[in-house]
Amino acid sequence: MSLQLGSQRYLFEIPDDIAYFNLASQAPQLRAVRAAGEDALAARAAPWHIGAQDWFDGVEQLRALFAEVIAGDPNGVALIPATSYGLAVAAQNTTARPGGRVLLIADEYPSTVYTWRAFASRHDAEIVTVVHEDGESWTDAVLGALDEQVQVVSLPNVRWTDGALIDLERVGARAREVGAMFAVDLTQSLGAMPFDVTAVRPDFLVATGYKWLLGPFSLTYLWVAPQHRSGTPLEHNWINRADSQDFAGLTDYRDDFQPGARRFDVGQRTNFTLTPMAIAALTQILDWEVPRVAETLQTATDRIEQWAREHGLQPLAARDRGPHMLEVGIPAEAMARVPQRLAENNVFVGVRGTTGLRISPHLYTTDDDLQRLFDALIGALEA
Ligand SMILES: Cc1ncc(COP(=O)(O)O)c(C=O)c1O
Repeated sequence: MSLQLGSQRYLFEIPDDIAYFNLASQAPQLRAVRAAGEDALAARAAPWHIGAQDWFDGVEQLRALFAEVIAGDPNGVALIPATSYGLAVAAQNTTARPGGRVLLIADEYPSTVYTWRAFASRHDAEIVTVVHEDGESWTDAVLGALDEQVQVVSLPNVRWTDGALIDLERVGARAREVGAMFAVDLTQSLGAMPFDVTAVRPDFLVATGYKWLLGPFSLTYLWVAPQHRSGTPLEHNWINRADSQDFAGLTDYRDDFQPGARRFDVGQRTNFTLTPMAIAALTQILDWEVPRVAETLQTATDRIEQWAREHGLQPLAARDRGPHMLEVGIPAEAMARVPQRLAENNVFVGVRGTTGLRISPHLYTTDDDLQRLFDALIGALEA
């Protein structure tokens, strides 16, 4: 039975003449997310109606929704501002022996690379950057480098540059075998691809909210495995300490924390404006059901892949990539004009240096959008 969803464009604020294929950069806004934000701003104008429990209720609802997205437990979820923050928590709660290896993949997102470079220099460890041979999968390339010398593995589910897929379940199993800490960045996949944290079993999981999770900027999720939940937070704040609900007792300073991963929440995580927006976003995603989102986006990216192949371009093949985005290689001489020509036609894609386009549709993508993309590409390639 097909799980395809019909067009959901009416739920977004996208003018008819815009073809937006750059969700991997930033999601367009759901109407429901904007409405939640506007209601939240109005509520903030009357703080006398905000009660003590309001500092806690929204974030607990958000933790539960995110837990549902990853098939995990709400107790393991911390609310943070950026993936760099979550990776810093992972690095702070991990050690390595001198000469120990930190495994990353080539062209990894800078927030990941800089975090582990700083970690490696603190611990006198070594960064190993995995590259893959032609015809070899990224998963095999990673597994080939994942030996007993590796102490940290930090990977995405799909590469941010091209959508290439990594089998995190297999890598996770091998990381446990060699005793390496396993951190995953699901920023470019969660919400668009099913994920089960109990199958992958990472030590730390981060995913920012403003891309495939369709939420506001500056709200990111961290899930922490049970064995790390007694770890050290990056910074110390009042609300993640035990009994912070008791506003009258806040100066009875406490050494113990709120339960689970709440100790890793960033200061001011209550975020009266952003939290309701994120709740609206995750509610919509769960309502669609992630497997249905994935199947629908697979159809769109397959059509783009097929069109690109028929026109002599080099798309990443479906078996090597996530369902929701792909890189299409463009001849270097055409790349000088392609992005501008697409933009002139109101077609927006990600530009990958001088070699290709990163194309990321969503449930608002229509047949008209696809045709507009193809027409604009033909125009630019032939010019
Ligand atoms: C894979 C990946 N991780 C993380 C981020 C965002 O990083 P940060 O939250 O540190 O700004 C992006 C943004 O493009 C990304 O593609």
